[in-house]
Amino acid sequence: MSNTWQNAMKVGIEVVDEDHRQLFALIQEFHAAADSQGGVVNGEQMAGILSRLDAYVKEHFAREELLQVEAGYDGYEENKRQHDELTHTLAVFIEKFHSGAAGEAKAATEKMKSFLGVWLGQHILKTDLKMRGRILPWAG
Ligand SMILES: [Fe+2]
Repeated sequence: MSNTWQNAMKVGIEVVDEDHRQLFALIQEFHAAADSQGGVVNGEQMAGILSRLDAYVKEHFAREELLQVEAGYDGYEENKRQHDELTHTLAVFIEKFHSGAAGEAKAATEKMKSFLGVWLGQHILKTDLKMRGRILPWAG
């Protein structure tokens, strides 16, 4: 799966697409940092990415959920359930990372990669894309 933003990923709602573009930029930054350092993101970089991801998740999920509620979107329940799960997974990872339980840098990098991969693959590309054509483009 590609880690770069592609037009095929467009939901067609500008605020949502802009948020997703930013998420992809953050993910790319993470991969670039890992690639330039033999596949390992150091602790300081990881802490930085995690805190930005945490802020992003809170803001973006809230924005997307509000939009769906206002539009009376019938996929809201499923989307909200996934958001809660992703938020929880991220919170657990952040806690583990700061307590040292996420393992050494290499292991933590691998875990982060798979989390970001699941997020992209399962959530944006499947669940979010279902909004396409079902929420008016000028919503939000
Ligand atoms: Fe989203």
